[in-house]
Amino acid sequence: MARLSRRELLEAGAAAGAALALQRAAGARAARAAWSRTLDFTTLGDGEGWPGWRCAGVANLRRGGGRGVLEAGSDVFPCDPRPVAFAVDQRFRDGEIAAVVEAAGAGTGLVLRRTGPRDYYAAIYDDEQGALLLVRRSPEGIAELARARYAHAGGPLRLSFRATGTRLEAAIDGGPSVAGSGLERSGDPGVLATARTLFPSAGPPVLPALGNLHLLPYGVQEGQAFMQTVVGEQVLGRIRERSTAAFSQIVVRASGLPSYTVPSVVAATTGTPRTGGATLRLATDVPARVTLELATNPRFRRARRVRAGITGPFDALLADVGKLPAGRRVYWRARLRRRGREALGPVRSFRVLPRAGSPERVTIAIGACAAQFGPLFDVLAARRPDAFIWQGDLNYPDTVGPLAQTTPCYAGIWREFLANPRMAPLLESTLFAAQRDDHDYGVQDANSTNLVPWGLAPWDALLGRRLYYRFTAGLAEIWVLDQRRFKSREAGTLLGAAQREWLLRTLAASRAPFKVICSPCTLAPLPANERDGSWAVGYEAERDALLEHIRTRVSGRTIFVTGDTHWTMVYDRDGLFEARPCPLGIPTPNDITLTEPNAAEDAREQPGVLYADDESSHVAWLEIGGGALTLSLVREDGETVFQRRF
Ligand SMILES: [Fe+2]
Repeated sequence: MARLSRRELLEAGAAAGAALALQRAAGARAARAAWSRTLDFTTLGDGEGWPGWRCAGVANLRRGGGRGVLEAGSDVFPCDPRPVAFAVDQRFRDGEIAAVVEAAGAGTGLVLRRTGPRDYYAAIYDDEQGALLLVRRSPEGIAELARARYAHAGGPLRLSFRATGTRLEAAIDGGPSVAGSGLERSGDPGVLATARTLFPSAGPPVLPALGNLHLLPYGVQEGQAFMQTVVGEQVLGRIRERSTAAFSQIVVRASGLPSYTVPSVVAATTGTPRTGGATLRLATDVPARVTLELATNPRFRRARRVRAGITGPFDALLADVGKLPAGRRVYWRARLRRRGREALGPVRSFRVLPRAGSPERVTIAIGACAAQFGPLFDVLAARRPDAFIWQGDLNYPDTVGPLAQTTPCYAGIWREFLANPRMAPLLESTLFAAQRDDHDYGVQDANSTNLVPWGLAPWDALLGRRLYYRFTAGLAEIWVLDQRRFKSREAGTLLGAAQREWLLRTLAASRAPFKVICSPCTLAPLPANERDGSWAVGYEAERDALLEHIRTRVSGRTIFVTGDTHWTMVYDRDGLFEARPCPLGIPTPNDITLTEPNAAEDAREQPGVLYADDESSHVAWLEIGGGALTLSLVREDGETVFQRRF
């Protein structure tokens, strides 16, 4: 000891300390070198959802009989036919996911390096193609990286998918393996299934020969009756078998430490206009704390920040923003925060509507009913209205697949609807006000007595929580009515007492020179959806009281824009002006041309009918300003086929 100098002692101490630190680091590294998480469905009880997993697509996640089941709900555009369920907060770069697949359906797969709803790598056993595929899914599309032939003979399928650096490898136990290269990045692990219904649609081009065929099997009463027959049960069983992936075990193994899932925006759209602003809609894939940035320039200089809170049910958020400059274009985007990570959403914009009484010009498009997103959506995008009101039958969610008639699937349907690439140009720069008609409530001829839960909560969270509403747009005031929620045949009402009282009171109080009532159900005394969608059949007393109220108590000019019935017409008689631009996109042959082939032709002979057509899709175009309201009907080829100036 004596021979050690003070300096040597210090060095020895430092060395010992360093050694200790090294040891600790090595220990920690060893602990971090690998981790694994096992989802063993054989030990989990039956119920909804998978613990720690999520799915933002059109799908049901269930546990039952020792299996984790992923049901893909729809292959009808714009629904993604391959919904991905992913493990939250298990992000890694290098590692593997392996699963015991008890049933593959049309195709099941394992996902790695998922960084967003449409951004991941997948190894898919495709039962229809008899192949093991390696694909890259990106927002731009799907690219196949590798493929090997394999026909599964039955029994459990052991599938694994590994990523190391840029190398991706997938294998089936006792089958082939495939390899490719991918971006070195960390992401979520997950699984997918493939939806197969009777009538898939991949979006444009529109298929006129098929028309609205997918409306038939499950969307209407006749179809539902068929599905309850023996043949119908077989069809349903086939759809279920093809669309379901079932797992008994899913294992994730990786090096390093699992990192948190960074939230992604699934859909961001501007909703219903409000005085000096709008309701903004946001859907994310995991819960997030949201701050909204608003500015009058797209670079967000001098942006206003609004703390909008945490996403709620279905990872959605509706935020009312106001005090924005009337008549000006406002840009907005969302900042998502979760567990210290931040993500920035896409930029959206809308024009704040001119304040009440302003003579400034405003344009509003109003339409109803589309089962396909045909050429009218290009016409609408090119015209770029300030606001677009779609009053009902928003792609007929009750017809996109029998497995999709559930609350989680409707949340997925509305997310995908709002993320629809065919509506993107419109939704990126327009106020989008929506209203439910019967099919959006999940049931044809929905009314207060047959509502289903999946028609309620997902819409309320993702599209809008106000059942009926009004807003001002310069010289006009617009009412948007709900005619299903409170509808009662016995009481002879489409509106219910509270909504009717609100409508009469606010109409009488309104000083707007032009009043536009958006009423999905038609008013004119003409044959139209007599079964259950006309104010003129069974609900005349309520309709007549409203028209009398307008005649005697309401100032200015009131007009009606309707929908629901799939042939377009304009009616003007006895103080009722009704334009019914409908549908927005249901190619012929459709329900009307098949069952009432002469409806439009006969109507042209009727007094008061100024226009009638059942061949093409139409939208109403309202131009308000300069002391006038001009209503045009615009056909899908862009032609203005009717115009009236008030
Ligand atoms: Fe419809």
